[in-house]
Amino acid sequence: MISKLNLFNVYLISRRISVKLAFLRNWIYVLEAVSFVICLVSMFFKEFKLALFILVIMSVLLLILIFEVIILFISSSLSKKNTEFKYLPGGSLSDWYEPTYNYNEKISWLDYVLGKLEDEGVRLESIRILSTSANKGKYEYEISKRYPKSKIIATDISIPKDHVGSSGNFTYLSEENNALNANSYLAKINIENVDLIWDIKGALWYSGKRKKLEILLNEYYNILDVEGVIIFDAYDYSREYFKNTLNSEAEGYRESSTYTRIKRKLEKSKWFNIHFDLDFIGDGEYKVAIMKKKEKRKNQTKEQGV
Ligand SMILES: C[S@@+](CC[C@H](N)C(=O)[O-])C[C@H]1O[C@@H](n2cnc3c(N)ncnc32)[C@H](O)[C@@H]1O
Repeated sequence: MISKLNLFNVYLISRRISVKLAFLRNWIYVLEAVSFVICLVSMFFKEFKLALFILVIMSVLLLILIFEVIILFISSSLSKKNTEFKYLPGGSLSDWYEPTYNYNEKISWLDYVLGKLEDEGVRLESIRILSTSANKGKYEYEISKRYPKSKIIATDISIPKDHVGSSGNFTYLSEENNALNANSYLAKINIENVDLIWDIKGALWYSGKRKKLEILLNEYYNILDVEGVIIFDAYDYSREYFKNTLNSEAEGYRESSTYTRIKRKLEKSKWFNIHFDLDFIGDGEYKVAIMKKKEKRKNQTKEQGV
């Protein structure tokens, strides 16, 4: 079996090649077009040797384009199966965290969201909070300072070297932890349940098809205490965010929110309706979803499980 490290190296190499080839792509299109015209003209003047030579050049260019598509396919399918690759050094999203964090700091995102949650009666002091996809863990550390009587646990499937270290009521679990195994990694630190799961643009965002989303939510359901909640970002995706992707200088979000990504799947999931209630607070980029655990009904059948 190929090890994770080898797979990551294949991902890095294929990504580097595809970034370089992407740069050449437009030039190749231009060369193909020019060659095509020269080929037609030389055939018109019965210069068949020249036409053949141009055809060879066009075929080589075409092979480069096909090679690029294959390389792109390899790097994107590897990162699709191993989300953590994207966030490690050299990965396509390794520079994602800081600009988003700086932007959120500028718009006082965390302050506003925490204030709104408090206003809505979500308890944040004297509780156990788990952030399953914390990346560097800066928001989580700030939460730990704001609620000194709460216990904050942060981790991620991809551990950045410069994550915030554990201190006081803040613990960063620095082994690679998949949110799908939250039960077992919490058990290792003798924690059975938490009251709040913080999952901003993280494991839920990456959960994939409906069945996989239900498996992840089932894991969350099992570790949540009575009336426990999951908090995730829910701003309505708009053209603004797409425009940001086109301008590398633009500040602000570039991707859809977690709710936008999972909305349809939640609507279609009977399992979800049986296990959770869903509510929203805040507006615009401050809008977050509160998923509240429902208590299991006594007559809930086995078939309703995941
Ligand atoms: C876009 S970043 C968001 C980081 C942070 N929550 C924030 O708001 O800035 C997505 C993070 O989710 C993590 N992630 C994705 N799938 C995960 C999973 N199944 N388990 C744990 N972490 C996951 C990635 O490794 C990455 O660090």
